[in-house]
Amino acid sequence: MKRLTLVLTLVLITAVAFSIKITMTSGGVGKELEVLKKQIQMFNQIYPDIKVEIIPMPDSSTQRHDLYVTYFAAKQPDPVVLMLDVIWPAEFAPFLEDLTKYKDYFALDRFLPGTVKSVTVNGKIVAIPWFTDAGLLYYRKDLLKKYGYDHPPRTWSELVEMAQKISKAEGIEGFVWQGAKYEGLVCDFMEYLWSFGGDVLDDNGKVVIDKGDAAVKALQFMKDLIYKYKISPEGVTTYMEEDARRLFQNGKAVFMRNWPYAWSLLNSPDSPVRGKVGVTVLPMGPGGRHAATLGGWVLGINKYASKEQKDAAIKLIRFLTSYHQELYKAVNAGQNPTRKYVYQDSSLEKAAPFMVKLFNVFINALPRPRVANYTDVSDIIQRYVHAVLTNQMDPQTAVKKMAKELRWTLGQ
Ligand code: GLC
Repeated sequence: MKRLTLVLTLVLITAVAFSIKITMTSGGVGKELEVLKKQIQMFNQIYPDIKVEIIPMPDSSTQRHDLYVTYFAAKQPDPVVLMLDVIWPAEFAPFLEDLTKYKDYFALDRFLPGTVKSVTVNGKIVAIPWFTDAGLLYYRKDLLKKYGYDHPPRTWSELVEMAQKISKAEGIEGFVWQGAKYEGLVCDFMEYLWSFGGDVLDDNGKVVIDKGDAAVKALQFMKDLIYKYKISPEGVTTYMEEDARRLFQNGKAVFMRNWPYAWSLLNSPDSPVRGKVGVTVLPMGPGGRHAATLGGWVLGINKYASKEQKDAAIKLIRFLTSYHQELYKAVNAGQNPTRKYVYQDSSLEKAAPFMVKLFNVFINALPRPRVANYTDVSDIIQRYVHAVLTNQMDPQTAVKKMAKELRWTLGQ
């Protein structure tokens, strides 16, 4: 009898303790999932009545996108809190709770303006910026020094020269990046294209990818990295972020293009390259321009969730995007804050000095084409860039066809 009473009391306490349950999607790239779980424990110290259940997502942004399409089509209340790529708010806005009236509650005026712009759709706030990303160049400080280089490459040609020399002598890869057919490839391609002086759309949204020869040259260069200069392995055409990161972390490459999250992993106690890595802005192309793609993730709320779930979700998002939690995430998961003042915090400078040093790179990162049907645009770019990288099409034909399909998709 005593035992039964105890069990019943426990059941009751649990039921009272968690008076509401909400689900939240999360990626698991690097340390992000592990860090989120800890953050939820901290959240529950303040809000013991809100149970947060994490729904893990695949690593590929493209696969996550497709899952969201299925979720929204079902018009179900779950997942309640959605981790959304910075390129999706326009497309998913119709399925997201309008958060405009909570602007002050979330203190959006304290966020980096570019990140707020990315969650503003037709004047409405549809999500809250969580962390921001920009493409960076990671390099092996120790190896550059060993081979007589006193600074990281400033141009792509310098990178090729250094990578060839060091990789041959050391018997490792020269340069790893994201060449698989998914969203990450678009991010990498845009950086070459911009640094070669081109763009996909102009300021008025007109397709300009086939104006001048920047796109052809950028594609040729990407292909040459693999087949002519032989500094990137053929396998790079299947790599996503974590494939490149693992290889680089195991000491098997001189250079890597990746997002900020890689830093804390590369410097973790068991990392073979701990303390040997530098990180800087991506090299300039012949166009004389350094360029980084703007990435990042924002948190939105499913419009089909109940009023109680939405209220709980708002509290969770406010907590996760608070100053201290953004700092915690930056220090522990290496994901860049979206709040301006966190960059002035001395503990951030200590844990991830590059975030402070490269602040300009983060705020000047360039967005991918801003169009409502971005997914179609991305799909076209992915297909043609990948066809070039896998030797199925030459760069000239790819740019011509890509431009034609883009114009058709955008009704031009
Ligand atoms: C990172 C970026 C995201 C981008 C993705 C591509 O997660 O934050 O914006 O789409 O990488 O792989």
